[in-house]
Amino acid sequence: MKNRVARKFKTGEAMAAFAADLFKKALAKKTGKFTVALSGGRTPALLFKRLASIPLPWDRVIFFMADERCVPVSSRDSNFGTARRTFFSKIKVPASNLRPVKTAASYERELLSETAPSNKLDFVFLGLGADGHTASIFHGSAAEKSEKLALAITAPRGVKPEHRLTLTPKALNRARTVVLMAAGPAKKKVFELAVRGDRKIPAGRLAPRGEFHLLFSEKE
Ligand code: 6PG
Repeated sequence: MKNRVARKFKTGEAMAAFAADLFKKALAKKTGKFTVALSGGRTPALLFKRLASIPLPWDRVIFFMADERCVPVSSRDSNFGTARRTFFSKIKVPASNLRPVKTAASYERELLSETAPSNKLDFVFLGLGADGHTASIFHGSAAEKSEKLALAITAPRGVKPEHRLTLTPKALNRARTVVLMAAGPAKKKVFELAVRGDRKIPAGRLAPRGEFHLLFSEKE
């Protein structure tokens, strides 16, 4: 797993700056359309703030979500709604470049259309749940064995919102660069499992074939 590189940071700002720089470098290396999938959850907040402060050719970037909760975009639980409020609204990106989730089937079609002919996303940001899930790929999820690129799933009991849509390992593993980010002491142990590729957790079973950066910050 030589493509798996782990780094630790003292602060969330330092981790966000490093992740944003990985994105900036990958974007600069490619001409034309650049496809990215954004993580949901709270961890990307500092990343979005950092990315929004960098003058990049956003008109070349097509934004997907790595997963989404089946709630209205106006809901605080919506990953697309959060990205729109805290990131998209602060950069010059055409609305046509933004890909909110509608259905798994339509998302698969959009992914295939925007990533043709390679069918590879250029960049993916992922988070890490305390239980080792990433995107909405939970332990025992049908997403792990799915041949689909996007799948509607029901989160485990107690995880709200329960109805979600997630990119599958099939879509994530073929991406050119994957950056997984985790922050805070509660994620330290599960982050180590992800770094080791420990198959006990979904994030450990992820096997990106491109660059795979795993970033951890002591502070959230
Ligand atoms: C989601 C996310 C999920 C998230 C982790 C970590 O929709 O919930 O995509 O995978 O990244 O649960 O969440 P935090 O960043 O809030 O800790």
